[in-house]
Amino acid sequence: MLVLGIESSCDETGAAIVKDGRYLLSNVVASQIEIHNRYGGVVPEVASRQQLATIIPVVETALEQGGCTWADIDAVAATYGPGLAGSLLVGLTVGKTLALACNLPFLGVNHLEAHIYANWLRKDVAPQKVEDWRYQEGDPVFPLLCLVVSGAHSELVLVPEHGHYELLGRTRDDAAGEAFDKVARILGLGYPGGPAIQQAAQDAEAELQQQGKPLKLARNAYRLPRAWLRGTYDFSFSGLKTAMLHLAEGAVESQHRKQVSQYTRMGELAAQHGLPNVSLLAASFQEAAVDVLAVKTRLAAQEYQVKQVVLAGGVAANASLRARLEQELSPLHIRLNYPPIEFCTDNAAMIAGAAFFHLCRDERHGLDLDVQPGLSL
Ligand code: KG4
Ligand code: ZN
Repeated sequence: MLVLGIESSCDETGAAIVKDGRYLLSNVVASQIEIHNRYGGVVPEVASRQQLATIIPVVETALEQGGCTWADIDAVAATYGPGLAGSLLVGLTVGKTLALACNLPFLGVNHLEAHIYANWLRKDVAPQKVEDWRYQEGDPVFPLLCLVVSGAHSELVLVPEHGHYELLGRTRDDAAGEAFDKVARILGLGYPGGPAIQQAAQDAEAELQQQGKPLKLARNAYRLPRAWLRGTYDFSFSGLKTAMLHLAEGAVESQHRKQVSQYTRMGELAAQHGLPNVSLLAASFQEAAVDVLAVKTRLAAQEYQVKQVVLAGGVAANASLRARLEQELSPLHIRLNYPPIEFCTDNAAMIAGAAFFHLCRDERHGLDLDVQPGLSL
């Protein structure tokens, strides 16, 4: 089964063709990062107008790169939530229109569920026929625990089988990716913050390594609070973010004896005066965030006796989180899986992939399906 997937929930416009929920024929993503970088974050009005300008060429390119014509496609799928209403509307309307015009079944996909199904995607050549849609060698194994960490979500989800989700915990304030983005802004590192913080932390460690000092020094250079919220699987990152803000402002203040109201200039100031060390601050922040995410995931995996843990969402691209979770889980013989980086951040391959498993259960949506910006799992 070949599914054309469309993703437009935020600032990425994607179209992809995926065979049998796993095998990639094409995956095209047009990013708006450079545009939003100017504003330090996503501007919804700008995002939806950009979606409109790029969606048709992106879909055409996905067909071309997949070596497909419309006659080859078996179904069309598009994200219908959660996300920005204006952005969602573009992809959903295009998806429904194409399905109607080509007389194909249509399915709306939950963006969060799609992030989870990114773990089923692979770059191998597709076999002629998939015998059992439920399981192929190399698929994640149920029951599994998924840590969904993106720009808008931080959730621990128990997945006993295809299509069943039990929410164990969620963030009470900022999402993990949102914390990375906001802290990067405080440190003057630009948008999106996750990759920038990871890079700065790696720079700090490389510097210390050159000086023959232990890496731990970078990760624990600043003492930062960790919200454990014991007895729950909930997260909270706002205290950590505020601590970073005070630390950054305070350090500059004592250096210059003046109030720095525009904390986005921190990076410039730090670079000029060599203090405070932005890379060390970034490394300490990343360590604090990863610490809580990894330990709480391990605790939930133990309590629910899952066979496997999978990572999903943009923050799953973080090398430190991946390494730390591996460390937590391998002594317990719990397997960890995370998608290749291009499937962690927003893309349409995961939309087409997730759709396959619904289509196999004969699920379809009518063309009256509307966007649901606040949709949950
Ligand atoms: O899943 P995603 O592409 O979009 C949403 O659905 O929200 O996630 C984007 C988030 C951003 O907050 C970004 O800073 C974060 O993922 N991110 C990372 C990394 N790459 C992207 N966070 C930490 N480390 C990374 N390497
Ligand atoms: Zn996402």
